[in-house]
Amino acid sequence: MKAKDLTIDEKLTLLTGDGNWRLERLGGKLPELFFSDGPCGLRTVREGEHALKATAFPTPSALASTWNRALAREMGELLGEEAIEREVDVLLAPGVNIKRTPCNGRNFEYFSEDPYLAGELAYEYILGVQSKGVGTSVKHFAANNREYDRFYQSSEVDDRTLHEIYLPAFARAAEAKPWTVMCAYNLLNGVYCSEHKKLLKTILREELGFDGVILSDWGAVVDRAKALKATLDLEMPHSDAAFARLKEAYARGEITDGEIDASVDRLLALVEKAQKARPLRKVLHTASERHEAAVRIAAEAAVLLKNDGALPLCEGERVFVCGKKAKTGVFGGGGSSCVDSDFSPAPLEELLRKEDPSLAVDGREICFHDWGELHGLFGLREGIVLARNADKAIVVVGCDADTDCEGCDRMQLTLSPVEEDLIRHIAAVNRQTVVVVYGGSAVDMSGWIDCVNAVLYVNFNGEGGNEALAKLLTGAENPSGKLQESFPLVPIASARGNTFTDVYSEGVFVGYRGYDAAGSSVLFPFGHGLSYSQFVYSDLTVHPSEEGFEVSLKVKNVSGRAGKEVVQLYAGQKFPLISRPVRELKGFEKICLAPGEQKRVVFSLSLRALAYWSPALDGWRTEEGEYTLSVGSSSRDLRLAADVWVHVPDAPSTRAPK
Ligand code: GLC
Repeated sequence: MKAKDLTIDEKLTLLTGDGNWRLERLGGKLPELFFSDGPCGLRTVREGEHALKATAFPTPSALASTWNRALAREMGELLGEEAIEREVDVLLAPGVNIKRTPCNGRNFEYFSEDPYLAGELAYEYILGVQSKGVGTSVKHFAANNREYDRFYQSSEVDDRTLHEIYLPAFARAAEAKPWTVMCAYNLLNGVYCSEHKKLLKTILREELGFDGVILSDWGAVVDRAKALKATLDLEMPHSDAAFARLKEAYARGEITDGEIDASVDRLLALVEKAQKARPLRKVLHTASERHEAAVRIAAEAAVLLKNDGALPLCEGERVFVCGKKAKTGVFGGGGSSCVDSDFSPAPLEELLRKEDPSLAVDGREICFHDWGELHGLFGLREGIVLARNADKAIVVVGCDADTDCEGCDRMQLTLSPVEEDLIRHIAAVNRQTVVVVYGGSAVDMSGWIDCVNAVLYVNFNGEGGNEALAKLLTGAENPSGKLQESFPLVPIASARGNTFTDVYSEGVFVGYRGYDAAGSSVLFPFGHGLSYSQFVYSDLTVHPSEEGFEVSLKVKNVSGRAGKEVVQLYAGQKFPLISRPVRELKGFEKICLAPGEQKRVVFSLSLRALAYWSPALDGWRTEEGEYTLSVGSSSRDLRLAADVWVHVPDAPSTRAPK
């Protein structure tokens, strides 16, 4: 069916949704097309208000902490299958907004502060979902990097920063041919994203080559006619005012048949795509297999930030577990991405006994509503005695859906005073104290980290989190996660805008790019994560290749325990004509190594990957000159480096020789 087969009223009706989750069916002329959240699992609300039960996978922030492309693909595939079971045609995911500030309440739904890492994982996730004949919706386009005043605030971003930091993850995601892209609520440089013609038409459609449906975030359209002219195809959810506004604009000649038909044809193409995909859809995994996958992803997502020897737990040890989050873990953050899982995890202490029956494990919640409550003090006293008498103490604390939630930002990066006090009290009586931290974004641990032996940051790791945690603490699993965002001491861009404008004055110096440029200390750097194994890097070689360079090195596991390492490649121009970050992530590979095993890792680095967005040339530019290529285990644990000369034929002049 094409637009020409419909009346003008039918066409205009199609441009806004039917209810909260459906495309208009035009009285049965079209089959149903059903949308459902979300990035961490299916939140499918068909009738009434309660979502159907589904698997609560680790959040995208946790998935990104695995730095594992294959897991991103697998999680996408399993989400696609669960969507099929719930007759969902388009999954409203993934969110790929950059973590510009760790205060953003929705960072748990996003992948990284680095656009390359975010793009790589989004690409795999989309391919995974869509391989099942279910569509995706890459969101929130664009520069939606905080929740405070999200409906009204204008992100003020210069063109270079937009192209180098806030667009690349969408550009990479677009290469996976997502069925839809969701525009953001906010304004970009003073124009609502929903009616931003340069953003939606010039950049997304013409520059990035996206040819699918652009739909609004729920309630993001301010003027439906202006949105249509910007090539936004679908307003969600249904809006009574839309049809009248469009009719009036059409009668006045504000919108043309061509503009209307273009959007209608894209919507009809979406319907047809879903219709063709339906018979091919297959569910190959059971709910319990999805749960097992959630456990595996959670295990790979955990980041061992510090370990002075307390981990892994040893055979026959007496272990004391405390903190109310040890009971159920934290599946995810708050808002539209939350999943109604009917999985009830066993308490951590029980799972530890199951993983290693030789352990003598005792646990107390020591949960108190405020510091003065007698129950809390009583519980604390008892806990201190148990901790003192244990070989090791495990304190489980962190953020949750109340602190990390859509629609609000965090006012602080530290844990609650009550949880910080609990850590300090337990650490005071046990020198082998291990802290397990839940979080959707960076946590400031500077107030207590020096008095504990080990810290395991587990993100919001879904319904399988406690099972994964027990495996990690006992050594049945070896931690291999890496931070996908910096854990700063003084965060960049944490200050809010003036409620109407948020000036991105740091430019491209976001996250580690900013901390490295300023030479700032950070609590833990981007890409950081320890293992129970040790890896040695050697034999770095760089050879010119057709598209740029081939970078090769060897990595050896010199420990007695099998482990996984995320080998990271960074590049930095030594004397750029324009201010540039010291180094930027340009490649990563996660490898498994048996004890004593050595593997070669090879990266292909294109000249385009070394480019910056030149405002002067209004395009990407790779400068002739000297670059440093570094490989390592984090952005600040660079093991090997090589300087190379990049020759760029017929490039604009570089700095004239003296
Ligand atoms: C919300 C979110 C978006 C979600 C949509 C539908 O406001 O911003 O991510 O997919 O509405 O729930």
